[in-house]
Amino acid sequence: MSDVRTYSVGTMATAARSQTLEVVRDAHESIIHVDRLTAFYGNKRVLNEVTLKIPSNQITALIGPSGCGKTTLLRTLNRMSYATPGFRHEGTVQILGQDVRSLKDVETFRRSVGMLFQRPNPFPMSILDNVTLALKLFGISKRRRNEIAEEMLGEVGLLHEIKDRLHQSPSSLSGGQQQRLCLARALAVEPKILLLDEPASALDPKSTRLLESLFVRLAERMTLVLVTHNLAQAKRVAHHTAFMESGELVEWGDTAELFSAPKDERTKVYVEEHIG
Ligand SMILES: Nc1ncnc2c1ncn2[C@@H]1O[C@H](COP(=O)(O)OP(=O)(O)OP(=O)(O)O)[C@@H](O)[C@H]1O
Ligand SMILES: [Mg+2]
Repeated sequence: MSDVRTYSVGTMATAARSQTLEVVRDAHESIIHVDRLTAFYGNKRVLNEVTLKIPSNQITALIGPSGCGKTTLLRTLNRMSYATPGFRHEGTVQILGQDVRSLKDVETFRRSVGMLFQRPNPFPMSILDNVTLALKLFGISKRRRNEIAEEMLGEVGLLHEIKDRLHQSPSSLSGGQQQRLCLARALAVEPKILLLDEPASALDPKSTRLLESLFVRLAERMTLVLVTHNLAQAKRVAHHTAFMESGELVEWGDTAELFSAPKDERTKVYVEEHIG
């Protein structure tokens, strides 16, 4: 975007880092509309007529057996699936009012939708540079970049833990710290949506709880979609939960209701088997 540079001097962090695709007025108006999404890898159908509305500023969990299509659905929301050879889909995904398939401004879209993966993936550069890299690409001044990095590292609780190591490689950080660094990196560009693909499954319980508390806090200002195998985690943090099986969205709704009174027998069986 040619005008990103104009945001770089003397503006608030919010203005500097975000360009939303559209203002969402109602606090929990749905921000992501998936309509009859059917997806294929080659001839293999992996999502079947999935229809789902994801409310803004809340956490929606996607649960279901391995191979049911959770990651494929998540990666289709931010177009990552499009990079997989043989992938194609029918139906639509609308985010912030725009069809992701035919976006005119992919760069702005990418900034609006951040992602965390199962394994932390810090870049091979210093801790500080991990957080400031995207801001540098947007032409934001070094002083401001460093301020934002401090703010973000503080937000994820890392600043006081690693204050003296900002110029060191992230490889010396624990898995939980690396994942929080990746979260700080994602937050630096002020996304509107965060996609989380089993972000805590490689972490110990303490790091997991820390990350969960961050997600809950972030939901005050952004929308989170959390793929998890950990049903207790979905119960702890998600406002809404969607249960998938064999590429189908079996049911979705209020998390407490879905766990206590599932409408579909398939959900009931899965929840009973996995809640422990
Ligand atoms: N790149 C690919 N090429 C072909 N098939 C794929 C590819 N990626 C995933 N699949 C298949 O698509 C189906 C859905 O996979 P997906 O990774 O979305 O499931 P998932 O619910 O995330 O599973 P898990 O819980 O194990 O992560 C599976 O049958 C999987 O084998
Ligand atoms: Mg997966």
